[in-house]
Amino acid sequence: MQAVDFQEGKLRLLDQRELPQVVRYLEIGDAEGAAEAIRDMAVRGAPAIGLAAAYAMALAAREATGTADPAATLRTLSDLIAQARPTAINLRHEVERSLGLLTGSPATWYETALGHAEAMKDGQRREDEALAQNALPLFRPGMRVLTHCNTGALATGGLGTAFAAIVLAHRELGLQEVLADETRPRLQGARLTAFELGQAGVPHRVIVDGAAAYCMASGLVDLVIVGADRIGSDGRTANKIGTYGLAVLAKHHGIPFAVVAPRSSCDPLWPGAREVEIEQRDPREVLEVMGQRVASAGSDALNPAFDVTPGELVTAIVREDGLFRPPYAF
Ligand code: MRU
Repeated sequence: MQAVDFQEGKLRLLDQRELPQVVRYLEIGDAEGAAEAIRDMAVRGAPAIGLAAAYAMALAAREATGTADPAATLRTLSDLIAQARPTAINLRHEVERSLGLLTGSPATWYETALGHAEAMKDGQRREDEALAQNALPLFRPGMRVLTHCNTGALATGGLGTAFAAIVLAHRELGLQEVLADETRPRLQGARLTAFELGQAGVPHRVIVDGAAAYCMASGLVDLVIVGADRIGSDGRTANKIGTYGLAVLAKHHGIPFAVVAPRSSCDPLWPGAREVEIEQRDPREVLEVMGQRVASAGSDALNPAFDVTPGELVTAIVREDGLFRPPYAF
């Protein structure tokens, strides 16, 4: 299943909001629609968001070309795309990279931006293969591995990040089991990771997020491995809400805690020149289950979508250019 594609002038997204029950593709012909699909998480996962943003920039370039002031229109549309979700740095990086390429005549913008997005898509699989290969030394035969959120092909448009590492390790070494956090509130673990692990033939069970401490204390976890939405210069890692708690638990139980992500998820300006914005999402994601209100009427919710794990809790960071140990200096 291809999470992000471009066909006949349209961005084609596998709608991840309905998986695995419904397999449906969205066809999007303008930058506004692409920004909306990213905001509403039809496409999600930092690298896949970056790829979708690169295609969205091609749509923006096409729209801008025919207007009275192409540069101003492009700027407005690129701001809209860049602001669709704030935490995954891949989104901003890809918008900025496309803008940097669109310096010639507006008549060339669409082809240039599209060519860039296509090249990026072609490279994604090789990048993910390198991530998985570089992560292999983290694994031993028969390991029990815990992961969080979704880092599979659906999250990158390639093979995945931490997920690709898990699949390769299972093929090469044989893992005993993967425990997939369900990952409240959007359930990327239960819906997407469990689905992809099943497709890949990796033995797994889904656990509620709150069971991670029990599993570690019971000796059911040898390695925690996750992806990243942004990695700072000192290895601090913004990732799906709940990741920081897992890292603290892993340290307490003496379990290695690894992050696997491409260089495009690294933000050398953070911390210092840039700070990370933690996306705060609609309280209804917490208060409702499958569109049905379950929380008491009148109660509100706090719904941060990400948290930040300090670099000193991360025992390894794997990128396409190698496996790094603390102290990190990216
Ligand atoms: O909010 P999402 O679903 O876009 O979450 C991002 C993620 O998929 C995870 O945080 C993931 O671990 C990093 S992206 C491979």
